[in-house]
Amino acid sequence: EKGGYDTFMEKEIHEQPHAVADTLLGRTKDDGELVLDELRISEERLRDIDRITVVACGTAAYAGTVAKYAIEHWTRIPVEVSLAHEFRYCDPIVDERTLVVSISQSGETMDTLMAVKHATELGALTLSICNTHGSTIPRESDAVLYTHAGPEIAVASTKAFLAQITACYVLGLYLAQLRGETYADDAKSVMTELRDMPDKVEELLGRMDRVVEMARFMADSRAILFLGRNVGFPVALEGALKLKELAYIHAEGFAAGELKHGPIALIEPGQPVFVVVPGPDTPHELHKKVVSNIQEIRARGARTIVIAHDGDEDVVPFASEVIRIPQCSPMLAPLLAVVPLQVFALHLASAKGLDVDQPRNLAKSVTVE
Ligand code: BG6
Repeated sequence: EKGGYDTFMEKEIHEQPHAVADTLLGRTKDDGELVLDELRISEERLRDIDRITVVACGTAAYAGTVAKYAIEHWTRIPVEVSLAHEFRYCDPIVDERTLVVSISQSGETMDTLMAVKHATELGALTLSICNTHGSTIPRESDAVLYTHAGPEIAVASTKAFLAQITACYVLGLYLAQLRGETYADDAKSVMTELRDMPDKVEELLGRMDRVVEMARFMADSRAILFLGRNVGFPVALEGALKLKELAYIHAEGFAAGELKHGPIALIEPGQPVFVVVPGPDTPHELHKKVVSNIQEIRARGARTIVIAHDGDEDVVPFASEVIRIPQCSPMLAPLLAVVPLQVFALHLASAKGLDVDQPRNLAKSVTVE
């Protein structure tokens, strides 16, 4: 049942190319135009949306944060991401022109369900991005966009995360298409590129030997930091979460720009820091800015483990290690950049002799508030 792998988590990491491909399947025409009749919400109603709030917990909330950057960029609709348990009790500003998007692998997370029910009471339109057919959250929502990752058994989410991000891209690009503004052209080319992502994830999975080796010799680490910027920021948060969940190591993710406002005080000789580097063609010179962050922490003795695109040579002088990911456009990079972080956490936890599929104190789906 583990398909020849030692753990469900490893199997699920290797199923990620399929999770992405299957989540795209049947939702686009050859020219990249999206077809989402399955939502069963009128185009007029969707065009009327003037605000989106994502509600989710854990890994799903990080997928929501990737969605925020992407959907705002493509549609110019303001997107807010709220942890579901905070949303429910913070007197949220929501009305009938708000689309509340819940993201949940299980569809049973009570915090998320309560947030959706509250959104409905407030008159919002609710859309569930969910991996489990017929589960409670989609049933309580006005519309559903299923992720097709297949059943996820390991407690720590991997393939569901990639599928959630994919579904969020599909939703964002669809809304851009409906709004028909200048973004629509851009949207079509991104959609075309999105269809190449499963192959790139596959290729990347074939390059993980060094990451596995690093995980083994870093098994005694006491704290590991993760930096990222723009869509790389939620990737950094997810990398840290995986390590906490699986390896019980203190791990924190930071927005790279925040470094100088506090976290740089944590840097001492030998401190491992993963840095998710934006692609060289990311707007606003973010690539250059993150490279200079790497330089700053390296000068203070940090062990810099840099995740960079193929061909990005600027990072090399300041990197203790470079993990290469295939080139792609900036917005799609999370589908690749998170993979080495998942593999790292898995193998570090295994090296410590821990139960990777069922970490202590955690449940796959938390059905109490
Ligand atoms: C947590 C799980 O309890 O719930 C995480 O341990 C998961 O892995 C989070 O990301 C949200 O779960 P779901 O099913 O709503 O996506």
